[in-house]
Amino acid sequence: MTKSGPGRTVRITRARRPDAERIVAARTLFDGPLDLDATRRYLADPRHVFLLATEGRRPIGFLRGSLLRQIRTSRPQFFLYEIGVVPSARRRGVGTALVERMLADARRIGCEEAFVLTSPTNRAAVALYRSTGGRTETPSDRMFVYPLRRRRRGRA
Ligand SMILES: CC(C)(COP(=O)(O)OP(=O)(O)OC[C@H]1O[C@@H](n2cnc3c(N)ncnc32)[C@H](O)[C@@H]1OP(=O)(O)O)[C@@H](O)C(=O)NCCC(=O)NCCS
Repeated sequence: MTKSGPGRTVRITRARRPDAERIVAARTLFDGPLDLDATRRYLADPRHVFLLATEGRRPIGFLRGSLLRQIRTSRPQFFLYEIGVVPSARRRGVGTALVERMLADARRIGCEEAFVLTSPTNRAAVALYRSTGGRTETPSDRMFVYPLRRRRRGRA
């Protein structure tokens, strides 16, 4: 559940296999058509995360990514592969809510960090990733990293 315009509530949920048809039908969310079987398989695989933002019954945004296992640590990384918000719902905090939910889930799962690649010319994406805590090594870098330290219990 998250903020939105007056009287409107945006809900963020993790999609599962039974949501595949609904996602495939939400054509305005994606650049091109999705494949139903591929979407079902994607959603059934616990290594993949698909977050759906809805306003009422209308899907207005999504974020998807995957858990990547490592060999130097047992803590996985989370690769944010794609995020999109329909044009009519942009600049209302939906993208921020999707990224924040992804970070909370990744932290809970025990990820060491999350990362995302984008073009430095994508102003909206760069501003979104920076404002949610993503960091780059240089200003023109394409990779934004979110370090995810585990929160210690009982410590200040
Ligand atoms: C990037 C995208 C997901 C942002 O979604 P959004 O819901 O509009 O994001 P938010 O409303 O949470 O914006 C968060 C902050 O990002 C920045 N921002 C968002 N859109 C911006 C734009 N067009 N220009 C400049 N800054 C922008 C602002 O700082 C904004 O905070 P503010 O509105 O309080 O100033 C959306 O623009 C989109 O779907 N773009 C097309 C797909 C895409 O490029 N995806 C990323 C690559 S996969």
